[in-house]
Amino acid sequence: MGSPDKFKKRVGVTGGAGFIGSNLLLHLVPEYPEYLFINLDCLTYAGNLSNLAAIENSPNYVFEKVDIRQSHQLRQCFMKYAVDSVIHLAAESHVDRSIHGPADFIQTNIIGTFNLLELAREKIPHFRFLHVSTDEVFGSLEDNSCSTESTPYNPNSPYSASKAAADHLVRAYHQTYGLDTVTANSSNNFGPYQFPEKIIPLTIINARNKSFIPIYGDGENVRDWLYVKDHCRALDLAFHYGRPGQTYNIGASNQLRNIDVVERICGIMDSILGDGPYRKLIKFVKDRPGHDRRYAVDASRLETQLHWKPQFAFDDALRSTVEWYLDNWPWVENCTTGDYRKYYSQNYENR
Ligand code: NAD
Ligand code: TYD
Repeated sequence: MGSPDKFKKRVGVTGGAGFIGSNLLLHLVPEYPEYLFINLDCLTYAGNLSNLAAIENSPNYVFEKVDIRQSHQLRQCFMKYAVDSVIHLAAESHVDRSIHGPADFIQTNIIGTFNLLELAREKIPHFRFLHVSTDEVFGSLEDNSCSTESTPYNPNSPYSASKAAADHLVRAYHQTYGLDTVTANSSNNFGPYQFPEKIIPLTIINARNKSFIPIYGDGENVRDWLYVKDHCRALDLAFHYGRPGQTYNIGASNQLRNIDVVERICGIMDSILGDGPYRKLIKFVKDRPGHDRRYAVDASRLETQLHWKPQFAFDDALRSTVEWYLDNWPWVENCTTGDYRKYYSQNYENR
């Protein structure tokens, strides 16, 4: 008779070295010592293992450099660790990059998801698949409306179209094969470890460097902001208690125009650094092609079924995010040297 498995679950977390993945693993690894977490990440520009220093020696955590586009690499890992569930975050995640070059988005977000689903299919009915997606699949909303789980998909960027395709594949594997899937569509996240190409860290870093803060178009586009730690708690609940085949919208009802978010960050920087006003650095630049005007999420299914509520007020979370970036400047410098600097100057310098 073999010895009983040391771990109650063996959870593959794809994209665990990225922004949300790192925050999620920092939450899950100490919270569930009875599970083994396998971080499957190929470390693109957005992956950073130093985010995970606090848990890297934990007995229930292991990192494997795996590219989800390569099904044989995935298969080897699934066999090595007897993976019995996946939290799938690995993706190309930046809309602007998807406009400059969509190919990687198709390969990672669609083919990569397909590769994972195929492995999961072999383990039905003993496999749970939590797919992490975005509210951007619903496209731009009219004033005052919110996307619910039954809002029709209407993606407008190569990024959101690739995520929509992945969501549909996940749905099809549940409907056709009975795979135990849950899909989470969250709104825009912010918080520690977010790569500096996204608007909130970009604003903090450019302001700190006294560089201009670029705002696309008229700055009136609305995003519904969610603190990453609230998102991670929602994913924990969805993984454990989400109903098979169900989708859950995740959002905290913080709908703000981009100009207002940027001005709030400038105000926080003024109060911390005292050498403002930082809003003088704001510059309106050429709009993003196909720029969605407004996102807003109705998270009532998550709140009712899984009893989730955001725990962080937006202004407090924004201030602690600004403080985190200012206190972790070596992390910022590490991200913003080399390739990122080259990419930034090639694509953004002449705005
Ligand atoms: P991120 O870009 O910060 O991190 C992505 C991670 O995936 C990186 O560690 C990268 O190395 C890894 N990765 C990329 N391609 C891979 C491949 N082929 N094989 C293995 N690993 C690969 O992204 P994020 O902001 O942490 O987003 C995580 C997930 O959440 C994505 O699926 C994204 O679509 C979704 N999401 C993000 C937001 C947001 O505001 N950031 C909102 C809603 C949903
Ligand atoms: P971003 O952080 O790229 O996230 P997403 O495109 O997934 O919503 O952008 C958030 C909003 O900020 C979006 O409306 C585009 C806008 N934006 C700017 O105005 N300037 C910038 O330099 C960037 C990167 C984004």
